Amino acid sequence: MKIDGGKFMITGGVSLIGSHVAEHLLAAGAAEVVLFDNYSLGTTDMIGHILDDSRVKLVRGDITRINELYDTLEGVDGIFAIAGFLTLPFSQNPALGITVNALGHVNVLEAARYRGVKKVIFSSSVATYGDPGPGVIDETMPFNFHSMTPPGVLYGSTKIIGEQLGRLYSERYGIQSVSLRYSTVYGERQHYRGVNALYIIDTYDKLVKGERPSMPGDGSEVHDYIHVADVARANLMAMQSDVTGEAVNVATGTATNLNRLFEIVAGLVGSDLKPIYGASSEAVRVTTSSALDFDIGKIDRLIGWKPEISIEDGIGRLVRWLETQS
Ligand SMILES: NC(=O)c1ccc[n+]([C@@H]2O[C@H](COP(=O)([O-])OP(=O)(O)OC[C@H]3O[C@@H](n4cnc5c(N)ncnc54)[C@H](O)[C@@H]3O)[C@@H](O)[C@H]2O)c1
Repeated sequence: MKIDGGKFMITGGVSLIGSHVAEHLLAAGAAEVVLFDNYSLGTTDMIGHILDDSRVKLVRGDITRINELYDTLEGVDGIFAIAGFLTLPFSQNPALGITVNALGHVNVLEAARYRGVKKVIFSSSVATYGDPGPGVIDETMPFNFHSMTPPGVLYGSTKIIGEQLGRLYSERYGIQSVSLRYSTVYGERQHYRGVNALYIIDTYDKLVKGERPSMPGDGSEVHDYIHVADVARANLMAMQSDVTGEAVNVATGTATNLNRLFEIVAGLVGSDLKPIYGASSEAVRVTTSSALDFDIGKIDRLIGWKPEISIEDGIGRLVRWLETQS
């Protein structure tokens, strides 16, 4: 599908990822970009910089109310299904998390079928692997949830449901669907809802106040941090491709530990403070391994996507944005 001249809807349009997908769509020549969001988690501050573009249409709507989707989807070529509850909001309201992530996605697909939308790109997660353990993690890895806390398991389960719904609608009704399994997403307009990316902004917040940030354990915990602009690019490339019924990792394939993350943020802020090791974190933890190896070969083979932004450059972009916020 062509982006240039097309009409697209983004559910969760005022989210971290949705706001970046919107920017990329506008830059690629989309004729109309509908930002559909109920503002339960995101705010219009996220898209203030693009609201003056006459191609942007803001719709206050809820994916759990199918009629609101029917009304908005007329003439839409493709949907970026991004609205959802991350693990943290999920832990605060599990009933609503299940409703939005699972039933909300049925509504999106059903409304897409009714309105003749050609393709749906679903924001899935590497939470579909649970706690994957050592070794290379490709898309055939099963869901290993026994060592995880309930919010993480429930969140990952709803993403598995979302992916399978996409496959079902692809096979049964011919609506193309691709599921993008993001690792830890971070970047400009970062919010406080992402369990793992939270560490970056918590560290920044403490250091600029001259306080010592806490460090879970010995700082050897790793995550695969993927910059939101790379994630947005993956969304557009998946929409442009003819691929359907597939789930692909959207990660860098490189693990970064918390000590290195601290070093990068402290270097950018110009602080020589040291973290307080072993401090217990109040945040909901998901997985805490010291090795993580996501295979990103499948997305490269299918749609030609590779990450472009290094962790150093990406955190640099985030810190420069944070500096404009105070
Ligand atoms: N941020 C990450 O690290 C990450 C990692 C893996 C997967 N994901 C997935 O990517 C998606 C976006 O993540 P994000 O960090 O940009 O999220 P976010 O929390 O910034 O945004 C979620 C958006 O969905 C909206 N929303 C919630 N319920 C809704 C409803 N019923 N109807 C309409 N809109 C609704 C919220 O208002 C918010 O704007 C989510 O589905 C998330 O599960 C994110």
